[in-house]
Amino acid sequence: MTPRSPGPSCRRAVTPGQSSWMRFFSLFCPSIQADVILLVTCSIREKAEQAIWNRLRHLSALKAWRQQQAGSPLRIGILGCMAERLKEEILHREKLVDIVAGPDAYRDLPRLLAVAESGQQAANVLLSLDETYADILPVQTSAGGTTAFVSIMRGCDNMCSYCIVPFTRGRERSRPIASILQEVRMLSDQGVKEVTLLGQNVNSFRDMSEVQFQSAAAPGLSRGFSTVYRAKPGGLRFAHLLDQVSRIDPEMRIRFTSPHPKDFPDEVLQLIQERHNICKQLHLPAQSGSTRVLEAMRRGYTREAYLELVHHVRDSIPGVSLSSDFIAGFCGETEEDHQQTVSLLQDVRYNVGFLFAYSMRETRAFHRLQDDVPAEVKQRRLQELITVFREEAARANEAMVGQCQLVLVEGPSKRSALELCGRNDGNIKVIFPDAEVEDAAGCQALARAQPGDYVLVKVTSASSQTLRGVPLRRTTLSRSAACH
Ligand code: 5AD
Ligand code: SF4
Repeated sequence: MTPRSPGPSCRRAVTPGQSSWMRFFSLFCPSIQADVILLVTCSIREKAEQAIWNRLRHLSALKAWRQQQAGSPLRIGILGCMAERLKEEILHREKLVDIVAGPDAYRDLPRLLAVAESGQQAANVLLSLDETYADILPVQTSAGGTTAFVSIMRGCDNMCSYCIVPFTRGRERSRPIASILQEVRMLSDQGVKEVTLLGQNVNSFRDMSEVQFQSAAAPGLSRGFSTVYRAKPGGLRFAHLLDQVSRIDPEMRIRFTSPHPKDFPDEVLQLIQERHNICKQLHLPAQSGSTRVLEAMRRGYTREAYLELVHHVRDSIPGVSLSSDFIAGFCGETEEDHQQTVSLLQDVRYNVGFLFAYSMRETRAFHRLQDDVPAEVKQRRLQELITVFREEAARANEAMVGQCQLVLVEGPSKRSALELCGRNDGNIKVIFPDAEVEDAAGCQALARAQPGDYVLVKVTSASSQTLRGVPLRRTTLSRSAACH
């Protein structure tokens, strides 16, 4: 879709009779120039959906304004998980919505738009067993960006009892390796220095597109972990993909998210340890520290199995940075269960954490369990988890004071134009003065670091979220790895 050039009607002077929202739109809202507004939505927690309902209320005023002022209709589309989950409700409740497209219906958008052009509402929420959008390469809108995401798989078969994802995103399927490699090569040619492989369960990756690998044996699960589905044999697995992707550009950092802790065979851990450009950073979503709650969540592991995995990961990848997701106040969670989560946070000491209050969705838990933890108790427990997480993360980060960290520069820091901001291998934000530094390549020459450069920074202070330091020299990923 090409953006419309601002027509004279969009610039029309505001007349005294116009209401305040009309004046607001005409002066400040760039979207009045658009013919179509598509909202990409998330359903994972109620708050995300609420934000879209609120946005739709604003858009309804904008749509009326546009019709009145420009005389041409503005089309509004709801895309993604909320469209999948609430198709009927959206179409009936919000008459202003013209298009509803689920996560597997994006190729159908031109047809849906054509139907909408004729004045009818259009919808497609069919889920697919094989859609991976492999042949559609995303357009990088920020020229000269240093980091990019590459989608490698979609969907989820795990059916955790609290989670809507398997219902809105459908069955697990992987993108063919060849098309992933092609995209990463293209990003490398564009100068991108960090790629994050993306999917709901990245490490369950299983490319079945090449016939000769279709009968390969299924790798084992992490010790003490189980699944609700039978082991899936065949296909090229995550270790193979990671190996291939990391060979493309020795100056490109590779990360991946989100993995499931059940799929960490030793070959994946070994590869992360050995390859200098695969970041030593793992997301291990725990969700709870109580075995009783984990069982109700149908996570397929106990507290003990999870802790054993954490120890195994730390033995296999010394210095690995760990992050996790936790849910506070799941159905039936007692004060004792909650304390078990607090103690898990203390035992593991994560570097990064994503903590949420349980939000009831139409899932197995909705049908079989009771959302019996009062809202204020959920909030209090969530705050306690956040406090403990921050204390522990601050301790973990303080241990880096005095160390040298290799930082990929992203740009000026938000707070000061005199400082640069980037991330270390463990994905922690590092801020340092934008000063001239020695260039490791050019015998004593001084250089100023630019976005996309690697800079060795000596850490001087740390908080729970950020490291600060002084830049020592500009270098490369390969050279820095050779020094260690
Ligand atoms: N309520 C709260 N948090 C949830 N998550 C998934 N479903 C819910 C829910 N119903 C969290 C989990 C998951 C992360 C992406 O979102 O922690 O790992
Ligand atoms: Fe949801 Fe992740 Fe569980 Fe899948 S593995 S059901 S995406 S929490």
